[in-house]
Amino acid sequence: QVAAASGHTVVLVDQSDEILKKSTKGIEESLKRVTKKKFADKPEAGAEFIEKTLKNLTTSTDAVTVVHSTDLVIEAIVENQEIKNELFKRLDKFAPEHTIFASNTSSLQITQLANSTTRQDRFGGLHFFNPVPMMKLVEVIKTPMTSQKTFESLMDFSKAVGKSPVSCKDTPGFIVNRLLVPYMMEAVRLLERGDASKEDIDVAMKLGAGYPMGPFELLDYVGLDTSKYIIDGWHSLEPNNPLFAPSPLLNKLVEEKKLGKKTGEGFYKYK
Ligand code: 3HC
Repeated sequence: QVAAASGHTVVLVDQSDEILKKSTKGIEESLKRVTKKKFADKPEAGAEFIEKTLKNLTTSTDAVTVVHSTDLVIEAIVENQEIKNELFKRLDKFAPEHTIFASNTSSLQITQLANSTTRQDRFGGLHFFNPVPMMKLVEVIKTPMTSQKTFESLMDFSKAVGKSPVSCKDTPGFIVNRLLVPYMMEAVRLLERGDASKEDIDVAMKLGAGYPMGPFELLDYVGLDTSKYIIDGWHSLEPNNPLFAPSPLLNKLVEEKKLGKKTGEGFYKYK
């Protein structure tokens, strides 16, 4: 959405037409929200902005065909190293020589993903934040193999889509998640110990620390499955780090398919 809105030609690829239909609808709704603010007194300019953006955006279920004419691939599939490696390996065979590959992974090592391809110098991390149309930050990750030219292209692309990029080495969680995920997990542990209710913890962090959402609202927003993938991955890397310890309550909710806002229930109920 943000790439299309800033004049780039985008192909959104996903597994089925049904998912793509849902995604396109989500983008249309989000564009309406952005337009309402950005073109408050100019409804005609707003309608033109939506039309132009949607013109830049097509969809496909066939990544291999699409990648033939792509300058930049941004992968944002499930947080699973093997599945991501498999996809990158396949795309590497069909993408043009100059094409840069980037992953939006929250927690996996970019170096390991790059190693599944033959283009380690044209591979980096581009980590966006939910909700992407609103959050101004992008983390740009340079591995020891990422070329300076690739790094600069990723920084330039981030600016071209209207974001403020920061750079970080290829370390667990980069900057934001390395600080944010342990904080959210500490909130869950506070609840597990019965020290305070989730409602009070959320109110406390909003009114006491000025955060726009409390930790449980944010966990539900990010997705409990994604949060669990992140913490489980880090726990396996550093089993003795108490900040990365898994949480029985989070595991239970994920097992019950209560994944947060997207499934209608997580720590809170929606609908
Ligand atoms: N698309 C477009 N615009 C949106 C939007 C979306 N998806 N979501 C919110 N907005 C805009 C709209 O303009 C909306 O106005 P509207 O209600 O008239 O449409 C405006 O934001 C205000 O939204 P709300 O009234 O719903 O609520 P807030 O004022 O609280 O703002 C928020 C919403 C921007 C999400 C704010 O609560 C916030 O900043 N929350 C914290 C988000 C955060 O921490 N993100 C990082 C998560 S970690 C992550 O993503 C990393 C990953 O790897 C796990």
